Amino acid sequence: MTTTDRVITPADFAEDLAKRPYFEKLRKGDLDLRWFEAEPGGGVWGTWGSKAEPSRRGLTLMDVDSASGLAAGLVGPPVTAPRGAGLDPDAGMTPWEINDKWELWADNLTNLYEEACSRQWNATADIDWRHLEALPPDMERALCQFCTFLTMAEYLATDVLAPWLPKFNTYFHEIKLFIASQAMDEARHTEVFRKRALANGGGLGMAIALGGALKLINAPAAAAGRTAGSTGSPLADNPLFSTWRDVSYCIHVVFEGAVLSIFRFGEFLGKTDVDKSIFRMVMQDEARHVAYGAMHLKYLLEGAPDPDAQREDLHRLADLAEMFFTDLFFMQPATVESLAILAGDGIGGVGAGLEVYKDVYRKLREEYLSRTARAGLDRRGRCFFPEELPF
Ligand SMILES: [Fe+2]
Ligand SMILES: [Fe+2]
Repeated sequence: MTTTDRVITPADFAEDLAKRPYFEKLRKGDLDLRWFEAEPGGGVWGTWGSKAEPSRRGLTLMDVDSASGLAAGLVGPPVTAPRGAGLDPDAGMTPWEINDKWELWADNLTNLYEEACSRQWNATADIDWRHLEALPPDMERALCQFCTFLTMAEYLATDVLAPWLPKFNTYFHEIKLFIASQAMDEARHTEVFRKRALANGGGLGMAIALGGALKLINAPAAAAGRTAGSTGSPLADNPLFSTWRDVSYCIHVVFEGAVLSIFRFGEFLGKTDVDKSIFRMVMQDEARHVAYGAMHLKYLLEGAPDPDAQREDLHRLADLAEMFFTDLFFMQPATVESLAILAGDGIGGVGAGLEVYKDVYRKLREEYLSRTARAGLDRRGRCFFPEELPF
């Protein structure tokens, strides 16, 4: 009887292990040693003789790559081996969903991961919470609303990105490591905005409705043959997020590009040093996420086998993404008004604050257009972010 056709107990499992041919041989002193005796580079053992020297920052992935000659090639093989490792002959082939370098790479990717590790911070101890100063009630309420919105926005990034981790071929460890570090960054952002909302006499405000933005793109997305995924997350199952190319464009370039501009605004709006420091901390993380997205877009448009088709397809995606995030972000009454109250120094100055908000939006739109054009996707003339906000 084997473990496959009966209810197994711990004792059964131990007995089955003991009967394995390998352990029967081992009990007689007969070792396997396939890994030990294999020739480096022969398929079973990977590489030998690599002696990576630490550089100025310590031992980076770049140092290890250059010492070993194991920089990423163009395609990952259909196996679970880390890049440069050999493989147990019994392991067999394992297909991955994303195997080509052009589908995931950015020339700054390895460096961004190293930077993510060295610049991790701690929302519990690295913010000087004890010196948070009381704000006038209208300002506190507006900042709490903005923090509530940002708490939700940070979930969007993690929920959409993390389900892609198991799809990348392990050959490209850089993307797995970087996206894992981004998930940690976004978790810390959710944490810090939640803490800010609850730390200064205010509280969590109104969660915004997502339905309107989805309604806006559902019909055109369906007409373009796009369907929502099925991760089970109300945030991730969106017709914009069907390939890594699309996820990265929508999240890293469109969404986080806007978030980065808004964080910069948040630093300007922060009335206390503590609030300013929160926005400064999240901004440095967010800049990495956007830097990956922009450089990946460039790499993809230069390295994909069919760059013109990719560019056209990305333009069609960008049309939808810009509509979606315009609705989700800039048109939400609670977001417009909370930022305008902060910019106007209180509810009495909301008129002036709305003008500041419109200025920030114009700048944000311009930053998006420059960033995409530099990466090779010129959205000028067809961008769905309206030139002016309608108020
Ligand atoms: Fe974030
Ligand atoms: Fe981010």
